[in-house]
This record gives sequence, C-alpha cells and structure tokens, in this order.
Amino acid sequence: MLARILSATTWGIEAKVVEVEVDVGAGLPAFQIVGLPDAAVQESRERVRSAIKNSGFSFPAQRVTVNLAPAFLKKTGSDFDLPIALGILLATGQIKLASSFSLSDLFLVGELSLSGEIKPVNGILPIAHFLSLQRKDSLLLLSLHNATEGALVEGVKVFGFRHLGEISDFLTGKVTRSPFVVERERFFSFSSLSEDLSEVKGQKRAKRALEIAASGGHHLLFIGPPGSGKTMLARRIPSLLPLLSLDEAIEVTKIHSVAGLLSLDQPLVTERPFRAPHHTISDAALIGGGQWPRPGEISLAHHGVLFLDEVLEFRRNVLETLREPLEMGKITVSRAQAIITYPARFILVLACNPCPCGYLGDAQRVCTCSPRQVAQYRSKLSGPLLDRIDLQVEVPRLEVSEVSAERKEESSLEVRKRVERARTIQRERFAGDRIMLNGDMKTAHLKKFCLLTREAKKVLESSVEKLALSMRAYHHILKVARTIADLEEEDNIQVHHVAEAIQYRSLDRRWE
Ligand SMILES: Nc1ncnc2c1ncn2[C@@H]1O[C@H](COP(=O)(O)OP(=O)(O)O)[C@@H](O)[C@H]1O
Ligand SMILES: [Mg+2]
Repeated sequence: MLARILSATTWGIEAKVVEVEVDVGAGLPAFQIVGLPDAAVQESRERVRSAIKNSGFSFPAQRVTVNLAPAFLKKTGSDFDLPIALGILLATGQIKLASSFSLSDLFLVGELSLSGEIKPVNGILPIAHFLSLQRKDSLLLLSLHNATEGALVEGVKVFGFRHLGEISDFLTGKVTRSPFVVERERFFSFSSLSEDLSEVKGQKRAKRALEIAASGGHHLLFIGPPGSGKTMLARRIPSLLPLLSLDEAIEVTKIHSVAGLLSLDQPLVTERPFRAPHHTISDAALIGGGQWPRPGEISLAHHGVLFLDEVLEFRRNVLETLREPLEMGKITVSRAQAIITYPARFILVLACNPCPCGYLGDAQRVCTCSPRQVAQYRSKLSGPLLDRIDLQVEVPRLEVSEVSAERKEESSLEVRKRVERARTIQRERFAGDRIMLNGDMKTAHLKKFCLLTREAKKVLESSVEKLALSMRAYHHILKVARTIADLEEEDNIQVHHVAEAIQYRSLDRRWE
C-alpha cells in the first residue's frame, strides 16, 4: 500500500512543500529512506520505529520504503519523523482517515521521541507563513510546543499535539478539535526595554549621533578611551528605535526560527534585535554559513542593531565580509549544498579604543603607543569599511564629578518620539520606492531627495576637497545631512545640516 503525506521544510527563510511517500509492500523486513536525506533524517528510522511501537501500533514486518520528494531539495533535521510515521500507519491500514479530512490539505511537521511524543522543530513560522499564502485551506499538524509559533500567522489552521496517539485520534475522527488560537498582541506587551538613555550622563555629542543613527538608519563608530561609556551608549540604541511593526516582527521571527533561537514562551520576536558577537567570531558565524547555510549574526540583527564592540580586535577578513551586506541589505551564502539569501538590513555600531593602550588623545593619561603601533592597530578598519560608516564620533572620558552629577537626562522615550517623527517623513518620501530610510538611499535617490541650498552646496564641496574625501564619503554626508534636516522637519538641506554631517567624518583623514 502506498500513502502520500505532505510536509514542508525551510529554504532560507522561505518554505517549500515536501511530499512524503510511504510504500509498504511484500519482501524481507526493511526500512529505507530515499530522496537526498541527511544523517538526521536517516536516524529518523529508529525513532519512527520505536514511536510507532510505543504508541500502541505495530511496525510492519514488511519492506518499507520512504521517498522524500522533490529529491533535489536537500532535507535536513528530524522534521519528517511525524509524516513518515503517519504514512506508515495509513499505508498499513492501522488508521483510517475520517471523511472530513483530505490528505491534500494536511501538512505534518515534527520530530518524534522513542515514546511517540511529538517534539518541536525549527522553522515553523516560515512554514506557516508560506501555507497561509500558498495553501489557504491547509491544516498544519505539529507539536503542541510549536503551536503558538505556527498560530501567529493568520490564515492557516494550526493543531498542536503531544503524542502520536493524539494525532491518530484526531485524524480518525475519534476526537474533534478547533484550531489553536493565539493573541498576537499579548506578545507585543511583553517587550520591555530595560536600558534607558537617561542613565548615561552628559555625552551630548554621542547621544545626538545615536539619535541621528536611529532616525535615518545610519552606521556609527564610537572611538574613545576605556571606560568612557561607548558600550553603555551603544546598548541603548534599540530603545531609541520605533517598536517593530507586526510585519517586521514576523520577518525577524522567521530568521530566528530558522536559526532555532525562539523561546517557547516568547515565540514572536517583538523587540528590535541587538546582536553583539564576540571579537573571536568566525566569518561564517557573522555572515551565515555552515554546510547547510544558517543565518549569521548580520541576519539575526535584521531590522535591529549589530554591535561590534572593540571592533579592531576582530579579524580583518571577518570585517571585510560586512561590505556586501552593508551595501545590499542582504547576504547570499553559497555552499556546496545550496545557495541561500538571507535579509540583513541593520544599523552597524562599532566601538574601539583610539590606540592599543587606549589613551591616545586623553586629557589625563599619557599614551604609551608608538605611531607605528597606532597605525597598525587602526589599519584593520580598512578605508572601504570606514567609508560606509556615516557617523564617526569621539567619546571622551567624563570627569567623575560629571558622572555623579544629579542632572536630569533626556529619556529614551523622549528621543524616540523625535526619531519616529523623522521616520514618518522618510516613509512618506520613499512611499513609491523600495527603501525606508535615508541610510538606504542610492545615488538616484540622492539626486531626487537631497536638495541643498546654494550655500550648503558650496560648504559641502569645499569640505570634501579639503578633507580629500571619497565619492562614497560624499554621498554618506548627504544622507546624514538629509536625516538631520528631517529631524528639523526641513525640506531643503541647509548649511548647518551639512556642517554637522561633515563633523561626523572627522576620522577619515586621521586614520591614514
Ligand atoms: N556618561 C556616563 N554616565 C554614566 N555612567 C557612565 C558614563 N560613562 C561611563 N559610565 C560608567 O562606566 C562604565 C564603563 O563604561 P563602558 O560603556 O563599559 O565604557 P567603554 O565601553 O567605553 O570602555 C559603565 O558601565 C558606567 O557604569
Ligand atoms: Mg566597552
């Protein structure tokens, strides 16, 4: 007897249908899985065999062949245990589908334990999302632990089960159930931003740069001696960004789902991602990779912030890999097994000391580094990478008296209101375009949207010449000036907008 069950698997952050064909026929007892399955799928045989036996059914003493189609699509992991087990039960006639169900509407995804328990798997949100768009009448059957994640998507009926026996009772019509329902808003109220900008004393210039970065989606570098508050400032950017919209939350959650990073009690990522990988990270972990390419830190930071603290400690080749995603907002990872594209649009925040000892330019302490040491230290931030950093900000060490002063500092919420206003202006500006923020503007946008007053143009041109800036740096100044003007709700870019934007490029020449 042959049974055909539908399942699905993720491909990047998208999903694809997998057909699980089970043939049980005469021959010596054997159990074979074909169709490009990896080791975890092969192990499925042992789990399925035990799960069936321990759920009160019998495993056929016949020849069992399972084909996972399409064959060219590489299947990984243990997601197919459940459809394989069900296929065997149907093919051997041990369960009979109730007439209210049609196999062409049922999608099963899940891992089985030896006892027949259904365990959660990664990537359920992309699968549910795909079904809601492409297979509107489908029923998604999975582990109860995955049910909340699946039900976050509207337009697909999700049913969660604990045990293989429960699924069989449901499909044979012994018990009826209604689809799993979640209140998505509940997860949004979960978000709590614990770190507030008001905790940082003084540092007006750095805070202003954070506000501009958050408003226009600009990349930022903090440079200053140890203990000056660079890390503290960077950690507070997410609190300045608008809350994720539902669509953004779902996109971010899809990436985290594929990477297996969702927690069971908070399956929707509702907070802006803030990723701060350690400087020993490999390029594969940063941009994505592995035999079967998984999203890297840059994709996990999508719609949020990627923070590289002590950036000069990172390996140079690792930093270089950032250039493509910074330009494109996505990354294509190609490995022998597959070529997969993941979104990667984030605000890059870098922090570093000015020299190996950290005290170059400090008012109190003496720097002990030789000019050669300093040059070597800085050479890692290559010109092309530094060029892409719109805002370069020096963060001086505060006096103890300033840190302990009882002054009221502006809260993140107050700054966020201005950021949101500036973002609204940008949304309207780019309504017909595929970009959202000034930081993403291409050359054509610059011509169209960055109109300068005559004075402003003169100031900009003469500064670019004086500082010997590259064309790319010139474009970045324009983008930042656009954001500064938006914060003031000005249509045209004026001299003081340009002047402020140029200030943030001051490191360009001193890095040489
Ligand atoms: N402007 C500031 N306001 C309040 N505390 C500060 C400030 N600057 C530094 N600190 C204190 O100093 C500590 C070290 O700051 P940190 O951000 O780690 O410095 P850096 O990353 O520049 O080495 C912080 O945890 C904080 O307690
Ligand atoms: Mg630090």
